[in-house]
Amino acid sequence: MRTQVGIVGAGPAGLMLSHLLHSAGIESVVVENRSRRYVEERVRAGVLEQGTVDLMREIGVGEGLQREGLIHHGLELRFSRRGHRIDLSGLTGGSTITIYGQNRVIKDLTDAQLAAGGQIFFEAEDVSVHGFDGTKPTVRFRLDNTLNELECDFIAGCDGYHGICRPSVPPAAFTEYDRVYPFGWLGILADVAPSSEELIYVRHERGFALHSMRSPRITRLYLQVAPDEDINNWPDEKIWAELQRRFETEGGFRLKEGPILQKAVTGMRSFVVEPMQHGTLFLAGDAAHIVPPTGAKGLNLAIADVRVLARALAEFYSSGSRRMLERYSEICLRRVWKVQRFSWWMTSMLHIFDDDNPFDRRRQLAELDYVTSSRVASQSLAENYVGLPMDWGA
Ligand code: APR
Ligand code: PHB
Repeated sequence: MRTQVGIVGAGPAGLMLSHLLHSAGIESVVVENRSRRYVEERVRAGVLEQGTVDLMREIGVGEGLQREGLIHHGLELRFSRRGHRIDLSGLTGGSTITIYGQNRVIKDLTDAQLAAGGQIFFEAEDVSVHGFDGTKPTVRFRLDNTLNELECDFIAGCDGYHGICRPSVPPAAFTEYDRVYPFGWLGILADVAPSSEELIYVRHERGFALHSMRSPRITRLYLQVAPDEDINNWPDEKIWAELQRRFETEGGFRLKEGPILQKAVTGMRSFVVEPMQHGTLFLAGDAAHIVPPTGAKGLNLAIADVRVLARALAEFYSSGSRRMLERYSEICLRRVWKVQRFSWWMTSMLHIFDDDNPFDRRRQLAELDYVTSSRVASQSLAENYVGLPMDWGA
């Protein structure tokens, strides 16, 4: 088997890359170790930046978004039992965010890909990458007990944090930057209408909480918990009671409750690998960096990477120049680090850190007070939240 770009992983990064390449007349094949159903049903984040939405429209996969995406112009920061609205649009000259589940993004991209005759191999076993130090890279995998070898010009490692591409590179070639947070998020999906039209980020003495949604009838809620929290310690009634306490306001706010459809705990970390390329292997998305979910940046960052990679590959195939490919990592990392900073900052401002002393707690409240009362401070939050320009650094 032969193609121009072998893509490992059918998450947002891999699928979007394949689309962008297709639009530029470049062939690719996607190799994914999970089933199509698993990938499409995995519940993940759901906030799309303006730039992500624009790109999906541009490549012709914006129909579902147009029909069902919920456009938000602001969000609420809640602390000391009071809510404060951040007018995202007003502070950014009209930018918005769109609520649309990552699994919907995946489904729309997969449908379009298969409809256009694109190749995705799901349930590939023993996926491995070879030869990326030279000019003949290959992706090997087993399908129905048959060994396949995909020869290509380049490999895109879009296989997430736990994938095989990053660990296939000799460790000395990379530097890893890491921060693990001393808490996790317990997330639920509830069969009930959202309790507010916009997202609510809560800083509460008992821990962070977040109100989000997937549709006008489905609510997504999160609670800060211990990183290794056993979900079995959280019967539904306990989850609702804790959520109600953290969302409480002076005005008597109550969350609407409904049946819990899904619940899980996830850990939180910040992680970056540098550089994001080695020979003819290019890492994109979670394979190269992880952000804590507080700024809702993971998916958007993955999309920004592959946008740069697709452009660099298009430049190579049209002119033979490797100039942009050589700068891939440098271009991406400039933006990645700014988004890392923002995600870390939102996380630090809104979570309770057990080893913080009373001074730290007061400082944290002063920061929230500043961000919600100073126009320039809230403008900085808004600028980052709706998404920094995709091509910063290019
Ligand atoms: N071989 C093939 N595919 C693999 C392998 C492997 N060895 N290991 C992992 N994968 C697949 C995963 O099953 C997944 O479908 O790679 C894909 C990686 O997708 P994501 O983890 O979604 O990563 P990415 O596309 O970079 O998107 C980042 O996804 O994790 C969320 O919150 C994160 O929103 C962010 C976004
Ligand atoms: C979500 O809807 O899942 C969500 C929203 C905002 C975040 C993180 C997750 O910051």
